[in-house]
Amino acid sequence: MSSIPTLRLNDGVTIPQLGFGVWQVSAEEAVSAVSTALEAGYRHIDTAAMYRNEEGVGKAIKESGIARDDLFITTKLWNDSHESGDCRTALQTSLDKLGTDHVDLYLIHWPAERKYGDAYIEAWDTMQQLQSEGLIRSIGVSNFNEPHLDRLNGATPSVNQIEMHPSFNQSDLRAVLTERGIAPEAWSPLGHAKDLEHETLATIAEQTGRTAAQVILRWHLQIGNIVIPKSVTPSRIVENFDVASFQLSDDQVAEINEISCGNRIGPDPAVAEF
Ligand SMILES: NC(=O)c1ccc[n+]([C@@H]2O[C@H](COP(=O)([O-])OP(=O)(O)OC[C@H]3O[C@@H](n4cnc5c(N)ncnc54)[C@H](OP(=O)(O)O)[C@@H]3O)[C@@H](O)[C@H]2O)c1
Repeated sequence: MSSIPTLRLNDGVTIPQLGFGVWQVSAEEAVSAVSTALEAGYRHIDTAAMYRNEEGVGKAIKESGIARDDLFITTKLWNDSHESGDCRTALQTSLDKLGTDHVDLYLIHWPAERKYGDAYIEAWDTMQQLQSEGLIRSIGVSNFNEPHLDRLNGATPSVNQIEMHPSFNQSDLRAVLTERGIAPEAWSPLGHAKDLEHETLATIAEQTGRTAAQVILRWHLQIGNIVIPKSVTPSRIVENFDVASFQLSDDQVAEINEISCGNRIGPDPAVAEF
């Protein structure tokens, strides 16, 4: 049904390249936002235990009547549950709330090294076990820098979900991920809406007859990022999904690549204190 491209991850799992993010969406709001997204054609939803809305996501999925195999559901393990037994319990809690017997992608949300040392390595090992039991299709990480990846004892996550948007495009870390066969996934892909005002994007939006948000999302797709924009506004949910039917030129992609100016909006994983 969807013309959104898919990517094949390094473990053979196929992921729709554009999904729907639900950070800062209440469980109640998630029911209507995810319902709207599914109606618009999204088949990939990105939530997390920490977002406290998995129940709402699960309700929308159930009410949609869409076959489970046609959906790609990501959730994330929170920082205080990296120890083996806690990780297993946390996943089961997420599955119960989502109303499913497996997730398509399970991510270690943050390495959280300052607070929990290298416990994320234990989480990784447990997630491999949970994958072999069929509870997780693909295992990945989020907010991992190169040194965090190096400490996974040679393991290669399928995905690293990191902050990426035009004003913070993370070209160096992306190059590392690409070299290692780890798919880059962009959180806050619109720069939490702050990048929408950039004049280069306004110009390209005018040239293409698209909105600045659509131009940014198209740029992510063309440089190979998986992308998970969030909105609770029905018209924006539909707008953000409508990015498969146009193409940016190589010059336009290059111009957007030039916008990056180290404009990180979230915590730096190297020093995050939680
Ligand atoms: N792994 C992590 O640590 C991590 C961290 C942050 C986020 N994430 C994931 O990434 C997802 C997206 O990131 P995000 O929510 O921070 O930021 P985002 O998707 O870059 O931006 C969301 C903001 O942009 C607005 N917006 C969305 N579409 C728009 C459009 N077409 N025109 C104008 N404004 C628009 C939204 O407003 P309305 O909602 O009011 O429409 C909201 O304020 C999250 O939902 C979550 O799934 C992961």
